Amino acid sequence: MAASISLLKHCFMVKTGRHLKNLPIVHLHITSTMKRASEHDFNLAKERLKTLKKDPGNEIKLQIYALFKQATQGPCNAPKPGMLDFVNKAKWDAWNSLGGLPQEQARHKYVDLVSSLMLAEAPNQTADSAVDGTSKYETIQLTTENNITTIRLNRPNKKNAITVEMYKEIMQALKQAAEEDSVLTVLTGNGDYYCSGNDLNNFMNVPPDNIKHMAKDSGELLRNFVNSFIDFPKPLISLVNGPAVGVSVTLLGLFDIVYATDRATFHTPFSQLGQSPEGCSSYIFPKIMGSAKANEVLLFNKKLTAREACSLGLVTEVFPDSTFQKEAWARVKAYATLPKNSLAYSKQLIREVEKEKLHKVNTQECERLVERWTSDECVNAIMSFFQNKAKL
Ligand code: COA
Repeated sequence: MAASISLLKHCFMVKTGRHLKNLPIVHLHITSTMKRASEHDFNLAKERLKTLKKDPGNEIKLQIYALFKQATQGPCNAPKPGMLDFVNKAKWDAWNSLGGLPQEQARHKYVDLVSSLMLAEAPNQTADSAVDGTSKYETIQLTTENNITTIRLNRPNKKNAITVEMYKEIMQALKQAAEEDSVLTVLTGNGDYYCSGNDLNNFMNVPPDNIKHMAKDSGELLRNFVNSFIDFPKPLISLVNGPAVGVSVTLLGLFDIVYATDRATFHTPFSQLGQSPEGCSSYIFPKIMGSAKANEVLLFNKKLTAREACSLGLVTEVFPDSTFQKEAWARVKAYATLPKNSLAYSKQLIREVEKEKLHKVNTQECERLVERWTSDECVNAIMSFFQNKAKL
């Protein structure tokens, strides 16, 4: 009880018990709900509660309090506090809302609730681990920790070039990140590059009579890929840990925050490769940079430094490479302590204004690319990339 009450001492934010009637008293993914919690389990849970590092929030603290009272004293029998006694009124409401819940069940729910809080604090909790401990992803890494889901592009030897499989895994990871109980999502790269764009091997080894089919499939894949960024429901932060090329640059306009090391460069060599812009950049880049600057980047392959990208509005802030990881992650960790729903709803409001337009632009860009990928200009440019490499 001491633990519950000491947690509640911090409950000063609760000004009214109004919303407590609808409190989901215990809605947790612990599988032991049919098991009976013994007196020993209950006492153990009380002790474990004292070791929690993170404040679980007022609503959870009220649930803990209410379940504790119900488990130890039965249904609420205390006099109702006055309306102005906010904290005690909130506690009383929480307890009273349990009605006639039997003491044994309350004890059991208390144990489950504490277990779930402890689980949530487990260090390095990875979200992508299968039961046997292996990851279901091969080209990326996905972790959830401290309210942050992080997607790391993980082909450092290939400068994190995006293969077909990687496109699919990033989409899958975004879906998972959206469903995770995290506040925000970060995308970054392993190794010295952020990402070198589309893996040009995606275009190689395609039999000539299959090129049109391959281009159509790739266009559909890209459209769905970009849609998963347009529709992502929570704040999305890019940590650009090194140079970025192609689609990894154009997508940045769909992130909510972009932090970059001063070693990063931003390059979209589309016309060099006989291609055309994607990631809604044909709409977003002129909007944020002005068309005169965006044209240099999107039409004429101008490579931007991190500072240039920042002054053009593509990057939020640039950090020295030596302190980039420390400073950028400190920001991200601080943001991850903000209220989850407030952030998500605010992001969705901002995005909703443009969503329809972005989907339309995305579809048009992909249609153009399907045409480009089958053109001689594109096929020849990609062939010469590999021929030049072979000469080195
Ligand atoms: N597609 C396929 N392979 C790529 C790649 C890409 N987009 N980017 C890098 N790689 C591969 C290289 O072929 C090389 O593979 P290898 O070790 O088997 O030879 C490996 O990654 C390392 O790249 P390398 O070129 O040796 O490193 P670098 O530091 O000299 O150059 C880049 C890095 C990114 C500048 C250069 O690889 C490049 O220009 N890549 C193409 C970028 C591009 O045009 N992307 C598409 C934009 S639409």
